Amino acid sequence: MSKTYEIFEDLNPPERLLMGPGPVDVYPSVLRAIASPMLGQFDPKFTEYMDQVMVLFRQVFQTDNNWTFLINGTARAAIEACLVSMVEPGDKVLVPRFGRFGFLLTEIAQRCGADVITLDAEWGSVFQPEQIIESIKKHSPKIVTIVHGDTSTTMAQPLQEIGQFCRENGAILYVDACATLGGNDLQVDKWQIDAVTAGLQKCMSGPPGSAPTTLNDRVAKIVNARKHIEVGIKPEGYKNPSGRRISSNYFDLAMLMDYWSPERLNHHTEATNMLYAARECARVLLSEGLENVFERHKLANNALRVGLEAMDLKLFGDEAYRMTNVTGVVIPNGVDGEAIRHCMLNKFNIEIGTSFGALHGKIWRIGAMGHVCRKINVLKCLDALSQSLKKNGYSTPMNAGVQAAEGYYALAEQKVA
Ligand SMILES: Cc1ncc(COP(=O)(O)O)c(C=O)c1O
Repeated sequence: MSKTYEIFEDLNPPERLLMGPGPVDVYPSVLRAIASPMLGQFDPKFTEYMDQVMVLFRQVFQTDNNWTFLINGTARAAIEACLVSMVEPGDKVLVPRFGRFGFLLTEIAQRCGADVITLDAEWGSVFQPEQIIESIKKHSPKIVTIVHGDTSTTMAQPLQEIGQFCRENGAILYVDACATLGGNDLQVDKWQIDAVTAGLQKCMSGPPGSAPTTLNDRVAKIVNARKHIEVGIKPEGYKNPSGRRISSNYFDLAMLMDYWSPERLNHHTEATNMLYAARECARVLLSEGLENVFERHKLANNALRVGLEAMDLKLFGDEAYRMTNVTGVVIPNGVDGEAIRHCMLNKFNIEIGTSFGALHGKIWRIGAMGHVCRKINVLKCLDALSQSLKKNGYSTPMNAGVQAAEGYYALAEQKVA
């Protein structure tokens, strides 16, 4: 008698509208790209795709950095790769924090053995550049690591002056742009940022699991001084440098750079179908045009905000520094935030986000990014939120959110015409 296995039913996930802080719905053409046939990692067609990914993401990052490629894993994989490859035990690393992900940078830098100096801004605000500059003057860190847009608070940190000061004063600036790349302007070269990493699952509207990364020659120099090639693949005659070996093999940027160079060092097996996804995300974005995509994000999220305020809901954080793709909404007194989220999900198939730490239970986070960032979804979300609040005993002015958002769009469309 043949054995009976437990195999479950065919995969059939419900169709949600993902309007939290990410992940978000994937562009249809990205889903199609993922389903393309596998290729071997050294197939000339595949290496051509790798080269194209480098060209595409240079444009997305607004950089001429040769070293612009993908790291397999979610966004934090690329954060780890950058920090473990740059930071040596005892190095001073400054981490200005204005939300949960600043704490993540702190933890990763500490795990690399850094002497971490932290600087804290109240959640819901960002730093004035002088505050960070003062701290750099005081501590002379080797590396400054900072989040561009921290989804936990929905705030975006201006980076221009920080980049310039770091460059003029010999510090490396690393930026986590996981939640901003592709929806908020991020000019890597102009703002003098040395290394930037991101993810696909936010404004890039791809699945989580591939982390676009860009590094300039200053970073490449630090990393290459530590390039100890894995013994089984070391080219004859290669002599390891005197620099300390990078303590992760998987996230060794020096070996990754060789893999992404014409040398094609056989490091890991590239995540083929995730590379197809990343390539398509960048293609979709660039086909629309960076400026147009940024404008679309601004428009949809401003319309959402106008709608939320018309519903007498209060927005969280400093208005002047909001990310363009996600909004914090203060949960009104007496409202059970989780009951509303469950109602939105179960009755309307719309996911919105909760928050972390001190903000848990205090704010919802509503995102409109990538493929989701369209008028129809903004209106659906406002309507569902209003109905969910009503079902839970909290009434907002009838239809006010949808009407205000529609009005905002109409005005914007008039301006363009
Ligand atoms: C700003 C920021 N950095 C890092 C991360 C971590 O990304 P991942 O979950 O893809 O590893 C996130 C995830 O939400 C994020 O918003």
